[in-house]
Amino acid sequence: MSKESECTVRKARPEDAAQVASLLAELGYPDNDVDDVRRRLAAWARETAGVVFVAEADAQVVGAVAVAAFPYLERRGRCGRIVALVVAADRRGQGIGRRLVEAAEEAAGSLGCVTMEVTSARTRTESHAFYRNIGYQEWSDRSARYLKDLRFGA
Ligand SMILES: CC(C)(COP(=O)(O)OP(=O)(O)OC[C@H]1O[C@@H](n2cnc3c(N)ncnc32)[C@H](O)[C@@H]1OP(=O)(O)O)[C@@H](O)C(=O)NCCC(=O)NCCS
Repeated sequence: MSKESECTVRKARPEDAAQVASLLAELGYPDNDVDDVRRRLAAWARETAGVVFVAEADAQVVGAVAVAAFPYLERRGRCGRIVALVVAADRRGQGIGRRLVEAAEEAAGSLGCVTMEVTSARTRTESHAFYRNIGYQEWSDRSARYLKDLRFGA
């Protein structure tokens, strides 16, 4: 049996917090407190316009993806945004990232999404190759990204 077929994708649960926190550290966010992640996963579990999936293999969480859907104004339907995606370093190249994105796309489709988008740091060149490989077109020559920190919220 291949490692790929041993992996299952399911909705994340608050109890996955410790393993999700260590995946987030691999993604470049090492300062996530496990209790915070647990609270966030609980909030995502209540979220009606988004979902977090994890990939599980050998009783370990080896990957995670979060997707959120927001409505368009200028056209029909919604857009699904991959909020975060990571596969454990020792499990990469086994089809897990693809399966997580497929689960995210399916969930987005059932939330009325007609497109999916993802942003990825310029430095993450391996993830750019991954997204191209699974059918995503680069739009950075057509669409600039702007971000502003807000003082309220959190
Ligand atoms: C990007 C990432 C999620 C990919 O997950 P993965 O499980 O290794 O990817 P898969 O094995 O499902 O690969 C799917 C396809 O993309 C290709 N691919 C994956 N990584 C690649 C790379 N670095 N270069 C070229 N192609 C790549 C695979 O060859 C595969 O193609 P195939 O089906 O034709 O063989 C994983 O490398 C990762 O977690 N990286 C660090 C975090 C990160 O960059 N996250 C994205 C932030 S936006």
